[in-house]
Amino acid sequence: MPRTAFVFGFTAGVALAATALLALSALAVLRDVHAGPPPPRGSAAAAAPPVGRRPRRGQRDSAAAGQAAPGSSSAGDSARTSTTDTPETADPMGAPWPREAAARSLARLEQAFGVPQRKLHELVKHFVKEMDQGLARDDQDLKMIPSFVTVLPRGTETGVFLGVDVGGSYFRVCEVVLEPGGVAASATTTTTPAATPAPAPAPALVGPSRMRSRQKRVQVPSELKTGRGVDLFDFFAACVQEFLAEIDATTPAAPAERLLGLTFSFPVAQTAIDKGTLMQWCNGYTASGVEGSDPVQMLQAALDRKRLRVRVVALVNDAVGTLVAHAFKDTSTHLGVILGTGTNAAYVERIDRIPKYAGHLPPSSSSSSSAAAAPSQSSGLMVVNTEWGAFDDACIVLPVTQYDLTIDRQSSNPRTYMLEKLVGGMYLAELLRLVLADLVSTGELFGGAQVPALSTRGSIETALLSRIERDHSADLADVRNVLENLVGVPRASTTIVDRRVVKRVAELIGTRSARLVAAGIAAIVTRTHRLNDCTVAIDGSLYENYPHYANRVRDALREIVGVAADNILLVSAHDGSSLGAALVAALIAQ
Ligand code: BGC
Repeated sequence: MPRTAFVFGFTAGVALAATALLALSALAVLRDVHAGPPPPRGSAAAAAPPVGRRPRRGQRDSAAAGQAAPGSSSAGDSARTSTTDTPETADPMGAPWPREAAARSLARLEQAFGVPQRKLHELVKHFVKEMDQGLARDDQDLKMIPSFVTVLPRGTETGVFLGVDVGGSYFRVCEVVLEPGGVAASATTTTTPAATPAPAPAPALVGPSRMRSRQKRVQVPSELKTGRGVDLFDFFAACVQEFLAEIDATTPAAPAERLLGLTFSFPVAQTAIDKGTLMQWCNGYTASGVEGSDPVQMLQAALDRKRLRVRVVALVNDAVGTLVAHAFKDTSTHLGVILGTGTNAAYVERIDRIPKYAGHLPPSSSSSSSAAAAPSQSSGLMVVNTEWGAFDDACIVLPVTQYDLTIDRQSSNPRTYMLEKLVGGMYLAELLRLVLADLVSTGELFGGAQVPALSTRGSIETALLSRIERDHSADLADVRNVLENLVGVPRASTTIVDRRVVKRVAELIGTRSARLVAAGIAAIVTRTHRLNDCTVAIDGSLYENYPHYANRVRDALREIVGVAADNILLVSAHDGSSLGAALVAALIAQ
């Protein structure tokens, strides 16, 4: 059995992120660079190739992608003269930026990774266009998948339900108990193995119904992710079985048959609330025999093989689940966003604005739960799973760099899910690795010292990126620790300039991710006329744990929609997606 983490107690899905106000370092780091501002994008100075600069692979790729992203023209162009940095003892903070080459590298990277206000507006415009296209037709970049969830919780639902969540890294199973009346108590008891960070205690959901939940989180072994689909689903069923064995010991009156909602964090073309077809694996999964199949049927078959009295009645995407779970608490919730390994958003749309839904109406069939769609249709609303990770796969407006193109080429889904590759936690550390490897290979970093780990794919973890961003010390001592002890940079070969460059690169990567997310949120909020009042429930480790992420999203939102950004409430909805699946099961049962 793999490592497991148990989370028992009263929990309700919303852990408000306490985001520190920390944005000063970027300015400090770059003040000397900015003393001589970088040439404007597209200017001769920015584009001029340096003398003796070798052509880079990415340049050709960028051109092939046909996009005029800042990074595509300049990222591979500027001078890579070797740095011979001053020993750091001779380079105290506050000294003028000592290396012209470092300044040039940074100016080039700033251009490549920057998402200025003008670009934000461009992204929003294009996003709205792609939303319309996706709502009208299948096979568009933005998939805009009707979820068949047409009613949100009122907070008065009752019963006992199961939710499971197949995510990029974890499988979660939870039991949600909705009891009539009262206000939920707030208490969470957590038992986790040493290596698994304990989730923050969630404040209670407040509503006429009282919600209690307990859950178990299991890391999905990578050999199962890439093995046979049937084994993967047997593993999920085994986790459910184990969970039920544990909770049934403490649940006096366990229902004879349990209703289960399945959160499946992959693009699924749904044809009913409990039916769909996996379009494409992502997030490291490639298990055979699942693409083109119905995950509900596969899970049900695996549960039946274990003779568990559990019926799968709902299939939801994790972004949909997050939205539904938070709506139980806050009826202004209009968007659910996932910012973790991958990224996605779901929102509430008017059915009459989903032209393609007409062709996907659920059959008035025998499906046990399709009837659940009936009351909802009268609401005139439906939650739509945007699959925004696939926004602008043609890279018309996305600021794609040569590094992104390398990641894309090496991915299991090349040329698709481009936004996800610029935003998702699964890719950010790899981006840092590629940029650093590039700077090292040209002698711009670490005095040209060899760093073998930088040539190995996946050798940097996202946690290191966060740690680098979190170091605000004058000498960036922890950045040095990370570089020397975890990345394998030879001891004493980093100068303060190197470390500033590394930190700035991390900031650029993290900031770009947050600003692109803000553009997506702004597009959905403006297109659905929710600028006056909109709660955005956000789940995922990137949003929760990455330093400054939330502030960066907020800053960019303000740049896009001005003071109306104050009406857009961004809230952290911890573990919302698995609770959401159970709540959708509850909606079906009501
Ligand atoms: C999947 C989405 C999912 C997102 C976040 C993406 O890779 O395509 O369906 O919601 O990851 O988990």
